[in-house]
Amino acid sequence: MQLYVDSANINEIRHAASLGVIHGVTTNPSLLAKEDPNVDVKQRILEIYQTVGGHLSVEVISTDTAGMLKEAEGILSWFPEATIKIPMIEAGLSAVKELSRQNIPTNVTLIFSPTQALAANNAGASYVSVFLGRLDDLAQDGVQVVEEVCEIWDRHGLESQIIAASIRHPMHILQCAKAGADIATVPYKTLIQSLKHPLTDSGLQSFLKDYEKMQAEKAKLLGNV
Ligand code: G3P
Repeated sequence: MQLYVDSANINEIRHAASLGVIHGVTTNPSLLAKEDPNVDVKQRILEIYQTVGGHLSVEVISTDTAGMLKEAEGILSWFPEATIKIPMIEAGLSAVKELSRQNIPTNVTLIFSPTQALAANNAGASYVSVFLGRLDDLAQDGVQVVEEVCEIWDRHGLESQIIAASIRHPMHILQCAKAGADIATVPYKTLIQSLKHPLTDSGLQSFLKDYEKMQAEKAKLLGNV
């Protein structure tokens, strides 16, 4: 399962990219709004793409098909490699159908049920983003929805890539990988948490301490000769 970072913060994205563990980035209007309000969105998107390459989803904010298509055209004029992120509403499905006809990659976002995911796939989505954390917030089982989507994809050989989104903690990453999601898009903090284990840190400290001890003993022996 590939990992993307779900962020619009260039420092976080640079650090995640430097670790070699991410294959793409997803952004959304809320993540961009968390940044400096003066941020130049186009410049930020291009900077992110130069940093990571791979997949970069850029979300439209129109809620009608014509508006979404116009926005997509605008985005592609300055960033031809963009994956256009479209909300899972009826107008969005029509936009996905048209963009897919033009071979433009799309990521259908705000998916909360297997039937929504199936419809997005059938409309021609390249990626379907299933939001599990927000389901958990409502005491619904987000991981179970990802599992059901993966099961349907396996059974029918469906082609769009399943992105597990709205990831809240490392256990979500593990559960989505086991379920068979193609990608998990993970907030920076959770990505870093998922790399850590206290036994790694204490183990490294022991190795270093033992090595120092060995060096000191060697030096002592040499001194005695
Ligand atoms: O890409 C957006 C998605 O991952 C949302 O996450 O934490 O706002 O539910 P969250």
